[in-house]
Formats: sequence, C-alpha cells, structure tokens
Amino acid sequence: MHVLVTGAAGFIGYHLTARLLADGHSVVGIDNCNDYYDVQLKKDRLSQLAALPQAGHFRFEALDLADGPGMAALFAREGFSHVVNLAAQAGVRYSLINPESYLSANLVGFGHILEGCRQNKVGHLLFASSSSVYGLNTAQPYSVQHNVDHPVSLYAATKKSNELMAHAYSHLYGMPCTGLRFFTVYGPWGRPDMALHLFTTAIVRGEPIKVFNQGHMRRDFTYIDDIVEGVVRLLPLAPGPDPSFDPAAPNAATSSAPWRIYNIGNNQTVELNDFIAALEDALGMKARKEMLPMQPGDVQATWADINDLTTLTGFAPSTPLREGIARFVDWYKEYYKI
Ligand SMILES: NC(=O)c1ccc[n+]([C@@H]2O[C@H](COP(=O)([O-])OP(=O)(O)OC[C@H]3O[C@@H](n4cnc5c(N)ncnc54)[C@H](O)[C@@H]3O)[C@@H](O)[C@H]2O)c1
Repeated sequence: MHVLVTGAAGFIGYHLTARLLADGHSVVGIDNCNDYYDVQLKKDRLSQLAALPQAGHFRFEALDLADGPGMAALFAREGFSHVVNLAAQAGVRYSLINPESYLSANLVGFGHILEGCRQNKVGHLLFASSSSVYGLNTAQPYSVQHNVDHPVSLYAATKKSNELMAHAYSHLYGMPCTGLRFFTVYGPWGRPDMALHLFTTAIVRGEPIKVFNQGHMRRDFTYIDDIVEGVVRLLPLAPGPDPSFDPAAPNAATSSAPWRIYNIGNNQTVELNDFIAALEDALGMKARKEMLPMQPGDVQATWADINDLTTLTGFAPSTPLREGIARFVDWYKEYYKI
C-alpha cells in the first residue's frame, strides 16, 4: 500500500506510521507541527521515524490540511492507495478556548481530505472520529448502533461532522470510508495535554494534580498498540454497500453507501481514581490531589462496545491498564531523563 498518514508527527500518527513501515508499506506523512503542545516532542517523533530501518519508504512533508492547493497537489502527485486522516485539532477543553482552530483543521481540512480522495480515487479513507461524539448519551457501553446527535463540545461536533461529510462523499462518489471512534488513547510518546502525561509530570515534581468530578469520571483507556492494531486490520478492508441496510430503520453504523463507523476501545471502563492509583504504583510515588468539579464539555463516562470491530476483524484490544501505564512511565523516565 502507498499510504498517506496525516498528523504523522502526532501521537497516534507516529505509532501508526512506524507500524505501516515495519509491515512493508510506503508512507507519506504530513503534519503542520503546530504548537498546541510541545513542538519538540513532535520533532522527536519524526526523528524516531527517520531513524527506522525502513525510513527509505517514508517521506515527511510539512503541510497544513487547510492548504487547499497544497493538499490537491500532494494527492495528485502521490496517487495514494489508502489514506488515514489523523491530523486534527484534538482536545475537548481547548475547543472552548480556541474554536477557530477546530473549524480550520477539522472541517475545512477534512473537506480537503475528502476532495483529494474523490479526485484521485483513493481505495480506502480511514479517519479519526472520537468517543466524544456520544455526548449526552448515557446508554453504556457506547455502541455504534446508537444515534449520536447531541455533542457537548465543538470538538465532538466537528468529529461527528466528519462522519457525516464522509457519508455524503461515500454516497455520492462510491468512496469507501471508515470512521474510527477512538477511546482515550494512552502510551509511550503520548500527548502532554492528556491526563496521564499531566498527572505524571505533576507527581514527579511534587505538584498537585487536578482531579475533575472528584475522580468519579470513568474512561475506557485504550493502549496505543491496540489502536494501531485496529487501524492496521481495518485498512485493507474497504467497506462496500451494506445489503442489510434498511433506510426505513437506518442502522447508525452502516449504510447503503460504502461507509462504516467503528469504536476502538478497550471495552472496559475505569474510574479516574483507580487510574490514578495505578499510576502512583507504577511511579512508586503518591499524588497530591486537588479535587475539582466536572469541566464543561466533558462527559461523565465512556465505555466502548466493540462488537462490530471484533466481528469484522477478529481483533479486540487486550493490553491491561497497569501494563500500559508501566510502559508509559518507562518511556517518560527515559525521554525526560528522570
Ligand atoms: N488521543 C486520543 O485519546 C484520541 C481520542 C479520540 C480521537 N482522537 C483523534 O485521533 C487523531 C490523532 O490524535 P492524537 O492523539 O495523535 O493527537 P495529536 O495532536 O498528537 O496529533 C494530531 C497531529 O495533527 C497535527 N495537525 C493539527 N492540525 C493540523 C492541520 N491543520 N494540518 C496538518 N496537521 C495538523 C498536529 O500537529 C498533531 O501532530 C485526532 O484526529 C484526534 O482528534 C484521539
């Protein structure tokens, strides 16, 4: 496969690129390396990719998804067989602070991805959606069969919009598209704006950690290798029209168009307080907790129903939380020289 990975300097994009190269594919990675979080971490991920034995099959280009002519030229030049769109303005809370960046990357940028795939007949587009699209839904575990029409953050609304935009292109142009709702991804080279990284930094510095909703939030924490495995398994499986799709009683996860939605989560929901306890054990240090109320835009609990993913691919994430946290802590200590 000749694959475009957008957001290749990002957390998931870096890991996916390394895996695709190891599997023998050629990859073009793009990223605008913006300063939403530490740019050096993004550069260091790219340096890791450049040092891989298969680096000859990887090319990186600094490019913004919102650059229409640049994106069109890239697609026309490369003739990608597959595209994985991971570049986005991520983060729920930041979407209350800088909404503009979400409109540009997640809506305008995603429109350019769709156009590039359409004009150049890309065989399969996979794109990152998010567990946050479940918004006000409380039925657990979250199923792709549920309707998700009540987002509680602009971030979630842009991700749901991506699913809808992709459906329209899939219907109109027969473009195979798969949307992936990732559930709280963690692991080595993880994002400094996410809880695991923030908590670790605070604990090793002896500073208090901010624990929202008194620690009674629940998350389906998913280890990075499990996310990558799910993506790699789905990549060659371009969907076709679903013959069982009934427009009179539409299943939210499928369509008469070659379009599907999958959850990729660990299928276990863990209370934040237990997550913190696991991190304390891995570090051998105690956290000082500053208990705070629920944050606007956050959801109380996430838990992924992964039946559709497992039925299609035979794969289910399996990394135990404590093992994944220990691997993160090992990486953190080495990277930050602690
Ligand atoms: N990490 C999670 O827990 C999680 C959960 C659900 C969904 N997701 C989604 O998965 C994808 C990857 O997430 P991640 O955790 O690797 O985040 P990340 O921020 O580490 O990676 C995204 C990358 O995209 C780049 N980018 C942002 N805007 C861009 C633009 N306009 N043009 C080009 N590059 C741009 C950033 O520089 C960054 O390197 C995102 O779409 C995110 O919304 C992540």
